Amino acid sequence: MTTPGRPSIAMRGSMALAAMPGVTGEAYVRVASRAFILAFYGTMRNLRLYPFENAVVQQSLQDLLLITNELLRRESECEFRVAGEFIFVNNTRLRLDLDNYSSFSALLTQFRQNGVGTLRVLSAPATRDWTVLLGYMMNPQGTDAIERFGGLRTRLDETNVAAFEIAPLVESDEEQGGEQVEAKEKAKRTYARSVSATKEVINSVRMGQSANIKKIKRVVQGIVDQILADETSLVGLTTIRDYDDYTFTHSVNVCIFSIALGRRLALTRLQLYDLGMAALFHDIGKARVPAEIINKADVLTDEEWRAIASHPWHGVLALFSVKDQHEFPYRSMLVAFQHHMKRDLTGYPRGLRTKEMMFYSKIVACADGFDAATSRRSYQTVPMAPSSVLAEMRDNPRRGIDPVVVKAFINLLGIYPVGTFVVLDTFELGIVHAVNPDPELLSRPMVRIVSDDLGNVQFPGTVVNLADRTEPGVFARTIIKTADPDRYGIRVGDYFV
Ligand SMILES: [Fe+2]
Ligand SMILES: [Fe+2]
Repeated sequence: MTTPGRPSIAMRGSMALAAMPGVTGEAYVRVASRAFILAFYGTMRNLRLYPFENAVVQQSLQDLLLITNELLRRESECEFRVAGEFIFVNNTRLRLDLDNYSSFSALLTQFRQNGVGTLRVLSAPATRDWTVLLGYMMNPQGTDAIERFGGLRTRLDETNVAAFEIAPLVESDEEQGGEQVEAKEKAKRTYARSVSATKEVINSVRMGQSANIKKIKRVVQGIVDQILADETSLVGLTTIRDYDDYTFTHSVNVCIFSIALGRRLALTRLQLYDLGMAALFHDIGKARVPAEIINKADVLTDEEWRAIASHPWHGVLALFSVKDQHEFPYRSMLVAFQHHMKRDLTGYPRGLRTKEMMFYSKIVACADGFDAATSRRSYQTVPMAPSSVLAEMRDNPRRGIDPVVVKAFINLLGIYPVGTFVVLDTFELGIVHAVNPDPELLSRPMVRIVSDDLGNVQFPGTVVNLADRTEPGVFARTIIKTADPDRYGIRVGDYFV
């Protein structure tokens, strides 16, 4: 809650903006938009909780005013547009951040419910203008979005609010597949919730506090249920690789991959719960290794390397010292201990008694190896292409991944996993959108075209099926090679949120 005299979060955001004279263009719009979304969400929440005259409401309205006016002054335009799952501010698409997830989706929902596609701020609005607009959006009149939109327009006219111009929402063909959008939404919620719960637990272990294991169990069950109902949505989300949040997104990704793999390897639902818990905490021991060593970009000294290589041991100890330790399946400890051992036990730690890695450890080792090699981290600024990692895991026995597990993994992800950036024989560029359901056609996935043959970037681009033929025996498009999206200025994650 905001106390008088103390700036609210959004306010601090806008003050930061005022102190950012050097920041211009897209970077400025991104920061300003974040502050706007926070203020918009905060004002709505406060209006719901307190009467209009309340100081808290007034404060958040002031924040909203300040940010909008600042945006207008610096950019000379201020336009919010909603399209499908995206929010654009002055034509810059905002990145969905795991931290701003709730405010981001609240704004999206408000716009959608009211059938508003675009909100343009024409001139510096007054507090009253915002109150009229938000008041209506929170209590709209009408049974569907079109009716509600008409109602909002009338309300703005009748109350002489001229600071805003609104335009209706236009849903594209692709987005009208309601069920599909719903499944994607659900997957995103599950993913964001999983990352924040994992963050909580890992941070408490780091600080030696007790963690809420029941909550994390529910998270893992949520992932299992979602994968059993719809495998592709969650697996697709593992391509959002958030650099700062690597520790947490890595844990969640390994958990998702492991559960999807376990399912393909015929594990039961209960076994998948256990496997998921083990996968989510496979690296818990890293919480006990100094962060400077974990994040070091340079070559490690012997001593530092020993510290990293001790994380499997620390993992076992950390799991033993968790308060509700009995809630952790015993296999979690084995997975934490064994996941770097490699199939021929040449990895670390050198097992004194281990004869063979446990099955769960083999699954987690495969998921872990893939996610680690394809992610960007402080010491790996250029991640490997997903398809090369898969080929390497399959063909190089020194990687130490079990061949049966790798085979199942390739069947799950396709030869070109979702998120792979590819160059086509038509000179178009694309991002693999989904695996071809026909296992005979693993090299012909569904691809989202993100740049045409002349190099014009397309957003959100259209999805094509590489199995489509122009005439019998002739495919319309074929992958020539994979490439580094950075070289083309494309951020793969932008096409998946
Ligand atoms: Fe590890
Ligand atoms: Fe790991």
